[in-house]
Amino acid sequence: MSSKAKRRPAAGKTAASKSSPGPSSSSRRAKASPAAAANPPANAAPAANALWGGRFASGPAAIMAEINASIGFDQRLYRQDIAGSMAHCVMLVRQGIVSPKDGEAILRGLDQVMAEIAAGEMVFRPELEDIHMHVEARLKEIIGEPAGRLHTARSRNDQVALDVHLFARDAVDQLQVALADLLEALLDKAEAEAATVMPGYTHLQAAQPVTFGHHLMAYVEMLERDRGRLADARRRLNESPLGAAALAGTSFPIDRDMTARALGFARPMRNSMDAVASRDFVLEILAAGSILSIHLSRLAEEIILWMSDGFRFIKLSDAFTTGSSIMPQKKNPDAAELVKGKAGRVIGDFTALAMTMKGLPLTYGKDMQEDKEPLFDAADSLELGVAAMAGMIRDLKANPERMRAVASADYSVATDLADWLVRKVGLPFRQAHHATGALVAMAAAKDLPLDRLTLQQMQTIEPKITRDVFKVLTVEASVAARRSLGGTAPANVARAVQEARERFLR
Ligand code: ARG
Repeated sequence: MSSKAKRRPAAGKTAASKSSPGPSSSSRRAKASPAAAANPPANAAPAANALWGGRFASGPAAIMAEINASIGFDQRLYRQDIAGSMAHCVMLVRQGIVSPKDGEAILRGLDQVMAEIAAGEMVFRPELEDIHMHVEARLKEIIGEPAGRLHTARSRNDQVALDVHLFARDAVDQLQVALADLLEALLDKAEAEAATVMPGYTHLQAAQPVTFGHHLMAYVEMLERDRGRLADARRRLNESPLGAAALAGTSFPIDRDMTARALGFARPMRNSMDAVASRDFVLEILAAGSILSIHLSRLAEEIILWMSDGFRFIKLSDAFTTGSSIMPQKKNPDAAELVKGKAGRVIGDFTALAMTMKGLPLTYGKDMQEDKEPLFDAADSLELGVAAMAGMIRDLKANPERMRAVASADYSVATDLADWLVRKVGLPFRQAHHATGALVAMAAAKDLPLDRLTLQQMQTIEPKITRDVFKVLTVEASVAARRSLGGTAPANVARAVQEARERFLR
């Protein structure tokens, strides 16, 4: 682990460095660096932490520093952290808590820190624990004493809660964009396949013919509810914890409405203890994300089934399959398998944080530092999974002949025959069901589809059957007849696609 500063670009190269000419920042930094503590003379005790170590005679044991550090993952929050600090600083100045001159220096310095981290120039050091201390330590190197005023009326407890709120909000927004794209892909495919007949299953046994478009539209409904759950979660999380300070609020005359507004929140959180102690906003996203991942996983499993030799309902192109290193003939649906695999991770992320939170007395406990990785992991896994699914849906090509052949072969129009007996012969449905069962048994014994039985053969079971029955024994007639609300008829599917497009445009 290097504690040496990386070389920064020469002064004048960036706007940020233009404002601080003079000796190279690496040399200034080495002098002022709190990380000097990281290189103590051999066999001396490590020095106390520069930011909170006032009452400490020496620094942490190496293993303490290691378990304590979150910088390895929370560096990802730097934009949120600095945005929060800027809003806090502007408010401190406006309230007369920090002088305008110091406030300006702080804002300028924060701009520079942001640019440096964005450019990959910040050297992250475990002894500075987390992103909050890295930003402040670097700010102090850049602007000196005023940096110490930024943390007035604030604690890392409300600071980290704020950063995670901001990250979670962005993550939901990005996921919604990805989901909108997946929905569009599904709607386009459903529209194109509105009249494509396939077997519909229960118990994974052929049940009744449906249209491929109708099947895909079922996922549109599920994903729309997922979007609703995420939107609900976003609405609830869009309150600012900043200004709760450590847990009890502050004696400084801060303006929490002002910082909340500046950061795009609807309002400040009402209770300071709730603000620093609660992570249900993360759990809610992980829960909604888990349900979403289950939907993606089911669709992925269907893609895998449909592609398999027994089904051959669809094909994925080379773009969404992989080969085998030993079996030259293979084309494997790895993307779909990975979407399924990621569902396990996302549900694990929810479970992990739920377990972390469930026994925590109020308010903040360091246990809660473990909130970030599950959130990051779920956000990444879901965004990737949704995008991969959109790619697969656009890529897949249906095999309508094969779908129709399987749908026709499995006596899936038996219900249509029973319904015909009710409508045309006047049998009670129970009796019609029984007669149809006998007809299916007869056809199965002859290894024929229902419409290949002769009228005479049928009449041995129900004498009142007429030639008219053959009209309902095709899969096309079966799906076309299912026009009840929410049914599979091609006309229904076309309308459902239209209505969905209108909902999304609203
Ligand atoms: N790194 C910490 C976290 O992620 C920041 C908050 C630290 N607060 C504290 N009281 N030590 O939760």
